[in-house]
Amino acid sequence: MKILPGPASIELSKKIAKNLNIPYLNLEYKQFTDGESYLQIDGEVNDEEIIIIQNTFPNQEKRLLEIMFLSATLKEYNASKVHVFTPYLCYARADRRRKEMEIISHKVTLELLYKSGVDSIMTFNVHNKEAFTSSVPELEKYDISVLPLIKKYLESETDDNYTIIGPDKGVSEELKYLSDGLDVSYTALEKYRDSVTHEISMRDIGIDVENKDVILFDDIITSGRTALDAFRIILDKRPKSLTFVVIHALAKPEVFVKMKEIGVHKIISTNTISRTDTEQIDVSSAISKFIEDKFL
Ligand code: R5P
Repeated sequence: MKILPGPASIELSKKIAKNLNIPYLNLEYKQFTDGESYLQIDGEVNDEEIIIIQNTFPNQEKRLLEIMFLSATLKEYNASKVHVFTPYLCYARADRRRKEMEIISHKVTLELLYKSGVDSIMTFNVHNKEAFTSSVPELEKYDISVLPLIKKYLESETDDNYTIIGPDKGVSEELKYLSDGLDVSYTALEKYRDSVTHEISMRDIGIDVENKDVILFDDIITSGRTALDAFRIILDKRPKSLTFVVIHALAKPEVFVKMKEIGVHKIISTNTISRTDTEQIDVSSAISKFIEDKFL
């Protein structure tokens, strides 16, 4: 077993290899002036199982293609198996067809990874677990939860004045898990998507959070529209404090600036997307643990 870093996750790969005492393959990487990637793997891979660690955000297409290049070359050099650990798996939300001939990018992504030699893929909190699990059955897939790490963080931060709110019922299970055992209540707001315009609207379901410490939890933020709409509803009810907790924080920095402007006190995300404008919960221990339990 050896670890091969993808260009996007060199430091993370080194950290995991060091933690687990797994040999590490150096990667020579450069970007040509036209933006294309040059990659060269340094080391023996014959008959070895290799874990490529590479995140797929930002620059989703480039990062995916690099994984495919690496995987195909590892197989050409007789690696026995290629596994990929990507903390955030891109294109996972395009998981069903809403219009005729629309591309189900999630499925195609998994197919292309498999066709380029990837035997298994591991990621954190994929958007639609069912679609992830059922697509491309030949590819082994592991959806690992960072919720235990988030819950541990919340344990030391919350008391019985806290309540956790989700922007829609899609995160109900996560809300239940996070509040279970902590002295906090939870509710999910209601979100609708217009089937023609795809416009999203959120309904005030009459929550009472006056003087409460409110945590808004979501699995992912991109445009920020969902979270900002939820905050507007919550803010009308005069909470004592507002915190945003999100697993995958893909939003542009301006979105978090806006959140602070409207009165959000704290923004917490995991480093499945590494950034400096949120308080980050480190998930590297969960990567190490999964690799250790599964492969060592
Ligand atoms: C939706 O089902 C997800 O849980 C998120 O609420 C959504 O994807 C967030 O997207 P945005 O930040 O663009 O509103």
